Amino acid sequence: MKVLVIGGSGGIGQAIVNHLASHYPQADVAATYHRNQPKHQQSLVRWYSLDVEDEASIKQLAQQFEQLDWIINCVGMLHTQHQKPEKNLASINPEFFLKSIAVNCLPTLLIAKHFQPLLRKSAQPCLATVSAKVGSITDNQLGGWYSYRSSKAALNMALKSIAIEWGRLMPKSVVVALHPGTTDTQLSKPFQTNVPEGKLFTPNYVATQLITILHSLKASDSGSFIAYDAERLPW
Ligand SMILES: NC(=O)c1ccc[n+]([C@@H]2O[C@H](COP(=O)([O-])OP(=O)(O)OC[C@H]3O[C@@H](n4cnc5c(N)ncnc54)[C@H](OP(=O)(O)O)[C@@H]3O)[C@@H](O)[C@H]2O)c1
Repeated sequence: MKVLVIGGSGGIGQAIVNHLASHYPQADVAATYHRNQPKHQQSLVRWYSLDVEDEASIKQLAQQFEQLDWIINCVGMLHTQHQKPEKNLASINPEFFLKSIAVNCLPTLLIAKHFQPLLRKSAQPCLATVSAKVGSITDNQLGGWYSYRSSKAALNMALKSIAIEWGRLMPKSVVVALHPGTTDTQLSKPFQTNVPEGKLFTPNYVATQLITILHSLKASDSGSFIAYDAERLPW
């Protein structure tokens, strides 16, 4: 099995890379990092630098591979050094909104565009992007977090359309949005105080859950939004 983990240097991404490398020694695992290549690496993992906001670098990365079976995109942003998620309309900042779309949504479309020929060579191709339950329109009870919610809802729509297009092109393909649950990473750090006991997961737990789920999926699951405990979430 040939797997590419995009955003393999993030909290969840690195745990997924480590899980694949240690539990699937026969797998060919490649991963991307953005600003810093992880220091403690699994020796068998091949690392590539990638900025998902740059289409040319996504295209160039695709040219490094002959064929792939799984692509797992773990890139995402909720806040920056200068901006927290919005509590109300008054805090909407167009630059932050567009950055959220550029990091959380558009890359999955560009990855699908440039990696499609490589996944087509697989007997069971899979594209999974880590989304977030707060991107569910049906589940939205609290409001706020406009940029993050909107970018993840847009991501979910993109994944659903990719699933439909690839269902025709690659009938065995699986395209899914994954919800990891609240996971102890730098992304969730400022927002962990109100997490109920037992509901703040370690990246290792989440990686195990998500990989186990991906292994269980069939083509009939393509176009689903799936949580860390395998629950099917409403769009
Ligand atoms: N943690 C949670 O509680 C939680 C809950 C629901 C959903 N999620 C989702 O899970 C995914 C992984 O999040 P995480 O918790 O692991 O956060 P994280 O540790 O902050 O990882 C995010 C990764 O995205 C990378 N990234 C950001 N901009 C990029 C760019 N332009 N090009 C390439 N890489 C870029 C970051 O690299 P640099 O740091 O080098 O920029 C980092 O490696 C995200 O999509 C997030 O929305 C997380």
